[in-house]
Amino acid sequence: MEQKLKSKDLLGLADVSAQEITLVLDTADSMKQIVQRTIKKVPTLRGRTILNLFYEPSTRTRSAFELAAKYLSADSISIATATSSITKGETLKDTAKNVEAMGIELIIMRHPVAGAPHYLAENVSASVINAGDGMHEHPTQGLLDIYTMREHKGRIEGLKVAIIGDIMHSRVARSNIWGLKKLGADIILSGPPTLLPKEMAGLGVNYTYSVEEAIRDADVVNVLRLQKERQDAGYLPSLAEYHKYWGVTKERLALAKPDALLMHPGPMNRGIEITSEIADGKQSAILDQVTNGVAIRMALFYLMLGGKEDE
Ligand code: CP
Repeated sequence: MEQKLKSKDLLGLADVSAQEITLVLDTADSMKQIVQRTIKKVPTLRGRTILNLFYEPSTRTRSAFELAAKYLSADSISIATATSSITKGETLKDTAKNVEAMGIELIIMRHPVAGAPHYLAENVSASVINAGDGMHEHPTQGLLDIYTMREHKGRIEGLKVAIIGDIMHSRVARSNIWGLKKLGADIILSGPPTLLPKEMAGLGVNYTYSVEEAIRDADVVNVLRLQKERQDAGYLPSLAEYHKYWGVTKERLALAKPDALLMHPGPMNRGIEITSEIADGKQSAILDQVTNGVAIRMALFYLMLGGKEDE
């Protein structure tokens, strides 16, 4: 197997093969050993240049990309859109062309518009990693989620993964579905009818409006963030009602297999889609996901930049 990714960009797990996903996960195993050392620094990407370009807020994704670059000795900069010339009306393409002219080789972009990273990738020769585009995909979150499942369960094939919550708005759900399906997991979605489009069944997954049915006998329960900022169209009567019918609680988690893993991409709305009791409980892998997010981003940097050294 060739030890690199086929495309110069990572825009979504819909475009990536099962072999490539496995390559990223296997590479992340080695990277995690570096993350767990006291001195977390190797010279692998010394002199390589990375830009973080985030048009939406982020804690986990942006920090993980920044730390991943530091641990591999790459030089990374971040453009905060609020204090950049983007506020003066500079286009995405112009911003990217300018930083590319300064020598940036890889651009990590989060953008509220689905497809923005694809547009960028077509217009620069630098590699582009999608760090979340609108309601489309969040491929590195999908990879770190799958990595965390494989780490705890030893496999992906045949796992029953329940994805619960605001499916419609979730780029995390879409990337999980694409990646998990390619590796042979059985996926069931559950959430309110207004936030669970029937068309999702076209992706080869099951769905039910009964959260109990979805969680019953699951190996993994992946709870999505209720995207309160995107609920202005009256999808929900109230947050209290959401919690009552769709919130994942200790009682509902008990319907899953006894050793089921509880996951959440963050940031959590405690007391709405998930209770603190289980988020901080022994089945929770939520902080493992965060640690693994650094290893996954290191693996991607290594695979996307590592093979380009000047001879
Ligand atoms: N999971 C995730 O994307 O978190 P952030 O929005 O904090 O990056």
